[in-house]
Amino acid sequence: MRKNIQFFDTTLRDGEQTIGVNFSIDQKVAIAKQLEKWGVDVIEAGFPVASNDDFKAVEAVAKAVKTAQVTGLARAKKNDIDACVKATAKAAHKQIHVFIATSPIHRNDKLHMSRAQVIQSIQDSVSYAHKYFPIVEFSPEDATRTEPDFLVEAIQAAIDSGASVINIPDTVGYTNPEEFEKLFKNLRENIPNFSEITFSVHCHDDLGMAVANSLQAIKSGATRIEGTINGIGERAGNAALEEVAAAMYVRKDYYQAQNHIQMGETYKLIQMISQYSKMPVPHNKAVVGANAFAHESGIHQDGMLKNPQTYEILTPEVVGAKKTSLPLGKLSGSHAVMQKLQQMGYQVDRNDMTEIFPRFKDVADHTDIVSEEQLSSIMEQMKEGIA
Ligand code: KIV
Ligand code: ZN
Repeated sequence: MRKNIQFFDTTLRDGEQTIGVNFSIDQKVAIAKQLEKWGVDVIEAGFPVASNDDFKAVEAVAKAVKTAQVTGLARAKKNDIDACVKATAKAAHKQIHVFIATSPIHRNDKLHMSRAQVIQSIQDSVSYAHKYFPIVEFSPEDATRTEPDFLVEAIQAAIDSGASVINIPDTVGYTNPEEFEKLFKNLRENIPNFSEITFSVHCHDDLGMAVANSLQAIKSGATRIEGTINGIGERAGNAALEEVAAAMYVRKDYYQAQNHIQMGETYKLIQMISQYSKMPVPHNKAVVGANAFAHESGIHQDGMLKNPQTYEILTPEVVGAKKTSLPLGKLSGSHAVMQKLQQMGYQVDRNDMTEIFPRFKDVADHTDIVSEEQLSSIMEQMKEGIA
């Protein structure tokens, strides 16, 4: 039996913490609807206590979303929790996300709180939140830099106070897959009811390992993955959920897990976030970049023409993107050039290519990508016998 992995999207909250990103309320509602279509289980719509606009956005998303759970972020404070209660009042399905930092550097230098005070704060806030929300998610912020024994103590205090979801944030993108498994091993061994709790992970990408760490967490016992679309977020961003979804799709048997994601809706969602965040998708971006399904070298193009699976483990159709392309450049082979000319309506065979291909190479040496116009002009010159 494959285990189910919940997708928790925080594009509207952590994603909006990206420098220069400020979604309007209408854009947030449109994003939330597309996220719902994509199949996410939980949408973190904002941090209601942070500003009037954030409150209104959470309220608007809560009203618009029908099947996904809507959640708001709250520090371990009554005021924050009250704001979440009000902002999510109209949601069909709701939960709350309460957090407090647990690592020594955050306790000592940011919060100025002792271990005992942090535990007290967890107990007070989680039990208070549980009066209003049947599902309380608790996050020990900076979990991956927290002492293992104190992490267990903090998590146990949250569970005993009513949290049914425990999120493990790698707040500063510090961990790696091997260490993350060790962290989970400690939890599996020391949290007696580990299997009754939904364990979630929230990985940042400071060292470029957010997606790898999230995928490791699936192997280690997590059943909820938090992240953003296009990996936008604070500093280097969050785990890119479309990449987690694609890895789970391509490596189903390895992860032995399933999810509710509608892969065909991916490309539309990516374009929407890119447009609203004013952040172009890098051409070499995994899964959905413009080059993700383009093959330039002759060896690769030849392989693709013989069997697309030689160089494509995911097809553009799966993610709702445009077709595979074989752009013609100086590294392309004659097989791909011949195929392109045939597509353009020229009756050419392998024999013809002995004359056409050197002319193509001359043009390709002085340009990035050879266009259809340039190919037509090569064919024209040959017809006219121009050397
Ligand atoms: O990165 C982080 O630790 C967070 C928490 C609020 C979960 O965003
Ligand atoms: Zn975060």
